[in-house]
Amino acid sequence: MALTIAPADPARPNFGGIVTGIDLRLPLTQAEVAAIDAGMDHYAVLAFPNQPISDDEQLAFSRNFGPLEQATGDIVQGAARRLRMELNDISNLDREGRIRALDDRARLFGLGNRLWHSDSSFKAIPAKYSLLSARKIPDRGGDTQFADMRAAWDTLDPATQSEIRNYVCDHSQLYSRGVLGFDFTDEDRIRWAPVQQRLVRRHPVTGRLSLFLSSHAGTIHGLPIPEARSLLRDLVEHATQRERVHTHKWRLHDLVMWDNRTTMHRATNAPPDQVRDMRRTTIESESSTMQQVA
Ligand code: OGA
Ligand code: MN
Repeated sequence: MALTIAPADPARPNFGGIVTGIDLRLPLTQAEVAAIDAGMDHYAVLAFPNQPISDDEQLAFSRNFGPLEQATGDIVQGAARRLRMELNDISNLDREGRIRALDDRARLFGLGNRLWHSDSSFKAIPAKYSLLSARKIPDRGGDTQFADMRAAWDTLDPATQSEIRNYVCDHSQLYSRGVLGFDFTDEDRIRWAPVQQRLVRRHPVTGRLSLFLSSHAGTIHGLPIPEARSLLRDLVEHATQRERVHTHKWRLHDLVMWDNRTTMHRATNAPPDQVRDMRRTTIESESSTMQQVA
């Protein structure tokens, strides 16, 4: 059966697609890779239902779309890690596979995913695609929501568009986790020093502009901090209005892939006493958004 991409919701034909007619465990043809890239450029979020893949298969599939990021943004590093460095651990499990306690530091850090964000916007070279594979899911909750940041830009009034067009933000995990009141060590503060990103970015293939917002954005250059943060809040509110949000309700062995250049996402609450084991591979963007001409 040939690869087919259909809208997840017929009422929203340009945001969120479902891909069938492909087995992610097998090597892809060039035509399949091109079709998925084109699908990403159109839908920005693609779900691949019923793909029971191993870690190795997830890595091999992901590498079709560019160089993989290392999970240096995870709070758990070194010998305590459950997964290798090419996999972000989006679970509530420790290395031994036990559910983390309510006050576990890694669990609290992971709650940052409940804030709207774009992956790795806190890295100088932020993320292009993220690929999240559902290995174990709870019996309720734990949906992932996506907001279309192309539509967010397109629907801003022209005065706001010209006001913010050339703004540059500082992004850091210190800002996003700080909003939740997470306690940082001195080492965290050095490791997660802010990086600069443009607030408006252009997609290298489609040429479309999108708002590059993220919970990691904490300041706008040239504005007083309260001014910057109020504006960022207004923009996030604008971008995440219901009509521009797509909700993915996970089924076991779904893989969902999104373009961080054109979307934000967030996790919704899940029962803390049930296993939720999700593993993420992440493709690097081509360059920093600061390299992009104004
Ligand atoms: C991520 C993420 C949300 C979720 O994997 O980058 O933010 O629902 N996940 O787990
Ligand atoms: Mn994320």
